[in-house]
Amino acid sequence: MLAIIGGTGLTKLPGLSIQRRQVIRTPYGEPSGPLTFGELDGHPVVFLARHGYGHTIPPHLVNYRANIWALSSEKVSHVVSVATVGGIHAGLTPGRFCVPDQIIDYTHGRETTFAEYNGKQVVHLDFTWPYCEDMRQRCMQALAQAGEDYLAAGVYAAVQGPRLETKAEIERLARDGADMVGMTGMPEAYLAREIGLCYAAISVSVNWAAGRGDSADGISPEVIEDTLAQVMERMRNVLKNLACMTYKAVPQN
Ligand code: HPA
Repeated sequence: MLAIIGGTGLTKLPGLSIQRRQVIRTPYGEPSGPLTFGELDGHPVVFLARHGYGHTIPPHLVNYRANIWALSSEKVSHVVSVATVGGIHAGLTPGRFCVPDQIIDYTHGRETTFAEYNGKQVVHLDFTWPYCEDMRQRCMQALAQAGEDYLAAGVYAAVQGPRLETKAEIERLARDGADMVGMTGMPEAYLAREIGLCYAAISVSVNWAAGRGDSADGISPEVIEDTLAQVMERMRNVLKNLACMTYKAVPQN
């Protein structure tokens, strides 16, 4: 079954006919909220609002381990993360989508692994390609089917937040090779890899990163709000396509 982790702007999924909500207890504490099981266009999905259903959990306090563990405990095989980002790459105009293929992790102080290492052999998991390519391809098909223009690859810089960046920080990220900046991509992607979920992200630029484009002198919250409002409507269409494709490709249990 497909899980959708909704980020900023996607705390609810209109169009989802809800069948049940389930509180999941995990060894890692509480997830961001109960899992919402339902159907999107007749196809089963489970939805979780990363920042809580009232958008009250900031990026550095999200319990990423509990969220991923909860999904994995409920027969989820595939996960799409909906991630708003600031555009660094010249092609990531506000409103444009990207399916990132790489990550640079600048976060700190987050719980980054399920491995406890209590007397067990240390394992170093491969993370050369941090996203599940199968799922990335499906995300791109879903975007194309919805008539969306998108970047087929890009480097996602995961920053700590909750503050936005300085101009100099964005310049450094650009020199590092980052195409977009967001606050929640890690450790979520790695935890999904560790637990064996096929995970990819659909990023959408909601503003130019600090110091770029119309954010040259600051990032306007109104610009972010406006872009979010019009973009999430389109995102819902993409997710419907994705739910349909995943349902056809992965026999349900
Ligand atoms: N920086 C970091 N995270 C973000 C941004 C940004 O400019 N926009 C949306 N999420």
